Amino acid sequence: MAHDHGGQMTPEQQKQMIEQELKISKNLGKIKYKIAVMSGKGGVGKSTVAANIAEAFQNEGYRTGILDADIHGPNIPIMLGIEKNDVGINDENLMVPVVSDSGIEVMSMAFLLESKNTPIIWRGPQKTGTIKQLIADVDWGDLDVLIIDNPPGTGDEPLTVLQTIPDINAVVMVSTPNAVSQDDVLKCVGMVEMLNIKNIGLVENMAYYSCPHCGEAVKMFGENQGREFAEEMGIVFLGDIPLTPKVSDSANIGKSVVELNADSEISMKFNFIVKEIKKNFLDNKEK
Ligand SMILES: Nc1ncnc2c1ncn2[C@@H]1O[C@H](COP(=O)(O)OP(=O)(O)OP(=O)(O)O)[C@@H](O)[C@H]1O
Ligand SMILES: [Mg+2]
Repeated sequence: MAHDHGGQMTPEQQKQMIEQELKISKNLGKIKYKIAVMSGKGGVGKSTVAANIAEAFQNEGYRTGILDADIHGPNIPIMLGIEKNDVGINDENLMVPVVSDSGIEVMSMAFLLESKNTPIIWRGPQKTGTIKQLIADVDWGDLDVLIIDNPPGTGDEPLTVLQTIPDINAVVMVSTPNAVSQDDVLKCVGMVEMLNIKNIGLVENMAYYSCPHCGEAVKMFGENQGREFAEEMGIVFLGDIPLTPKVSDSANIGKSVVELNADSEISMKFNFIVKEIKKNFLDNKEK
């Protein structure tokens, strides 16, 4: 990590920075599509959406990876049922991702901590340095899709992710149907647009309640909030996901919704979102 000495970098720091940029373009260069999942708001279901759209891509035959860029709350391994911490190191001193049961390549801070209970208590430069390493020092191989699960907010950490990963093909924003969440998402969309990323889509999570007994869709927050919100912001509406125990149960036992409830309405929802991502942001490019 280059430190700022009144705007000047030492030659050694400059060398390190250039080396890291070269590593990033080499190690991420073989990945066809990079999709970042974000939200200005915490707890709205970013990691849930990231894990499930990764699973849906993988099901369709795309070689898929997830970079869990949330260093404080790295939840992706739990959500995909990964208990082992066996990150390998290859000949070039790069970390080799852990592979989930369904074949998704996963890299997460969770693999690098001594125990599940170890909190990360770092200040800004350490955090951005670590995030950059999680991006630069991983051997992803030839992936078709890399999903990046971001921490919440518009602070240093998501900003570092967006600025460090070159050529992000799409950003998936996650919101819930209320003004508080939408207000934060609006700021996040502003940040992404400032970075000149144009392909932004919205997933509305917890859009309605799906009764586990009769399957009725109870629209207690009103209808079409997500679609209208996306239209107001001038971004693509990718789909909605109901509030349902199927989603939280699957996260609890470490299986994706798509894997646990194949052919059910809820897994169709994630498949539909992936179809929309491809149609709007990816399909014009070669797979
Ligand atoms: N549609 C849903 N139905 C039921 N539970 C859900 C749904 N979406 C997410 N959850 C649950 O809500 C909790 C928060 O979800 P998640 O961790 O994906 O949010 P997040 O936005 O990634 O949070 P953070 O900001 O902390 O990273 C989890 O326990 C998850 O299982
Ligand atoms: Mg999360």
